[in-house]
Amino acid sequence: MRVYRGHLIHIGGAPRLDGAREHLVSIPDGALAVDDAGMIGYSGAYPGLPESAAGAEIIDCRPGFLLPGFVDTHIHFPQTHCVDSYGGGQLLDWLQRCIFPAEAMLADTGYARRVARDFCSRRIAVGTTTALVFGSAFPHAQDALFEESIAAGLRTISGRGIQTVGPAAAGPLLTGDAEAIDLTHNEIERWHNHAGGLTHAAVVPRFALSVTETTLRALGELYEDASADGVYFHTHLSENRGEIEAVRADYGVEHYLDTYDGRCAGGGVSLLGRRSVFAHAVHCTDHELSRLAETGSSIAHCPTSQLFLGSGTMPWQRTTASGVTVALGTDVSAGDEWLIPRVLNDCFKVHISEPEGQGLSIPPADLLFTATLAGARALDLEDRIGNLDAGKEADFLVVDPQRQALLPELLARTDPEDADRLLFTLLMSMREDVIDGVYVRGRLVTEPG
Ligand code: GUN
Ligand code: ZN
Repeated sequence: MRVYRGHLIHIGGAPRLDGAREHLVSIPDGALAVDDAGMIGYSGAYPGLPESAAGAEIIDCRPGFLLPGFVDTHIHFPQTHCVDSYGGGQLLDWLQRCIFPAEAMLADTGYARRVARDFCSRRIAVGTTTALVFGSAFPHAQDALFEESIAAGLRTISGRGIQTVGPAAAGPLLTGDAEAIDLTHNEIERWHNHAGGLTHAAVVPRFALSVTETTLRALGELYEDASADGVYFHTHLSENRGEIEAVRADYGVEHYLDTYDGRCAGGGVSLLGRRSVFAHAVHCTDHELSRLAETGSSIAHCPTSQLFLGSGTMPWQRTTASGVTVALGTDVSAGDEWLIPRVLNDCFKVHISEPEGQGLSIPPADLLFTATLAGARALDLEDRIGNLDAGKEADFLVVDPQRQALLPELLARTDPEDADRLLFTLLMSMREDVIDGVYVRGRLVTEPG
């Protein structure tokens, strides 16, 4: 057993968003006792350490903080080198001009391996212990991603990006329907619930415009079986107004979500459910929000990306009030920032600025909840991760404020007992340099090869 001593901050228990504030735990002289299996045996005040921790090695992280690992519920692995992409327009222009050609470069196995290493390396630097990763079209690239993730010790859920139709620029990423199903099956067999449960597979059609009704119907049949084994479903939904109009025109549906919900003209099995995560959901109708909520599906909210592509602002109050779980995603590379607290910073700013009386100053505990426990819930992993309660697997970060200019001064001006104020300072101000240790299941994750 090891004991980490520092200022412990997390959202304890299992509240909903509206209970996050009451569940904010902040213990200035705190301790986490982690056993040899990587489980949290004790979480609380250092002076209250139980007898069983006597003789354990003590790692003194003071004046550092102990935070839950960040959960990124939407990030694109094949876009690791693309955060600077100028598309000359919004989503569809950016995809065609920058992203499809960049993703096609992963056809080269050596390059795909380099991208996988860089991807894992960035995740470690920014403390993203768990991620739902939008994958490459190429199976060798997906193998590289899973292998590098396992070598590093990260938690990764991913699936190859499925595309069966698209513009010429998407050509190298396309397959036929039968091949798409075969490759997806194969990936599930290789990587689902692998590495002691640190990797999982997902079924990932890029978005409705990258596939057809036939593809979605076949994926529905596949997912009917795969979802019983805990395979995930992940895609984009209602991100951009031009995209939504194109989906409605192509599919003849009233609501974008209908395409994934088995409600195209030909019918089919719904892809919604408790392991289904939809990125963006900026412009959803009430019907869409209630279908997401009643099926236990979740939203990966990506405010940094929405700013970058001019996609609009997901209405925070209306969306969270619908009962759907709203977690956070960087959406690298439309999101040009890897660090989850920087995405929270944008989240705070865009929602305080919402028009027509909808603006809200999101409380710091709600921000932390969205970046950690809500992510774990969206990924149906709340029984294992998402906070630092005893009994969970020890996915945590050691944050050393002394590694960032002026952060110690900002924190020194805050009463350590004023948890809200202190958390706000930390989340809004921190940069990745302060992340001093990243642990998954009690093990320090390390830079790949
Ligand atoms: N919709 C379809 N593909 C993408 C993508 O790569 N990024 C974003 N932000 N939206 C998409
Ligand atoms: Zn995306």
